[in-house]
Amino acid sequence: MALTIVESIDELRADLDRSRAAGDDVGFVPTMGYLHAGHLSLVEAARARHARVVVSIFVNPLQFAVGEDLGAYPRDLDRDVGLCADAGVDVVFAPSVEEMYPFGPVATTVTVGGISERFEGATRPTHFAGVATVVAKLFNIVGPCAAYFGEKDFQQLAVVRRMAVDLSAPIDVVGCPIVREPDGLAMSSRNVYLDDAQRAAAPVLQRALQRGRASIEAGERDPDAVVAAMAELIDAEPLAELDYVAVVDAVTLEVPERLAGELRLLGAAQVGRPRLIDNVGVTIP
Ligand code: PAF
Repeated sequence: MALTIVESIDELRADLDRSRAAGDDVGFVPTMGYLHAGHLSLVEAARARHARVVVSIFVNPLQFAVGEDLGAYPRDLDRDVGLCADAGVDVVFAPSVEEMYPFGPVATTVTVGGISERFEGATRPTHFAGVATVVAKLFNIVGPCAAYFGEKDFQQLAVVRRMAVDLSAPIDVVGCPIVREPDGLAMSSRNVYLDDAQRAAAPVLQRALQRGRASIEAGERDPDAVVAAMAELIDAEPLAELDYVAVVDAVTLEVPERLAGELRLLGAAQVGRPRLIDNVGVTIP
């Protein structure tokens, strides 16, 4: 069936209610557009499991702080729609800001305590409330479905999972692996901001995380020692400014006293205009 572009909440609800009534389950991929291979891997995962696939494209003002790149955030709806059509998406939901926030500034927000406050939340204190609020709205609009999120935004995935459980949302939250450029840089819509020199320097974040993982695999169990090894590599790259590196429990995102179980190494660094984030997993049996 041909792809449909829907701008209205009521129209999307009616369309998906008809699908579910006909026995067709729904896979949902929320995005802010400017799609790349990472987004398309989420679509592919949804396509493989669900009769109908919906992609939302909405640059959510709530998750940008004053001074961040809301106005400059890359947008190309025609190109995104073409990519979605080629990938077998059934519906692109592309609402206006007025459709999503008809009263202007929202009076109701969703805050996921604890897990939102560390790492990304420490640098961008209002970010996760903006994400959780729009994702809760999107879950209410799309209705029962499986929703696909990339592991690149690992903390976002943890926040969304926690919100879905806390609010009993009828949503199966599915995390999908990071898609990388050949040199290891995690794909991101904001990578277009990198100039040539910054682009060449950017994989340092991934190399630092790999170094941390290798040290754990070699037997290191002190989180501070792993952090120091990762930070050293980023500090040696003049074009990268370290924000944080950490080793955390993969579910709670708490830093354990001694490393054990399923862990995630997280990192963020400013490289020119974009703030790059990345992560890798490691399990200590
Ligand atoms: O990951 C993103 O692109 C956004 O944070 C999301 C989940 C679509 C909410 O705006």
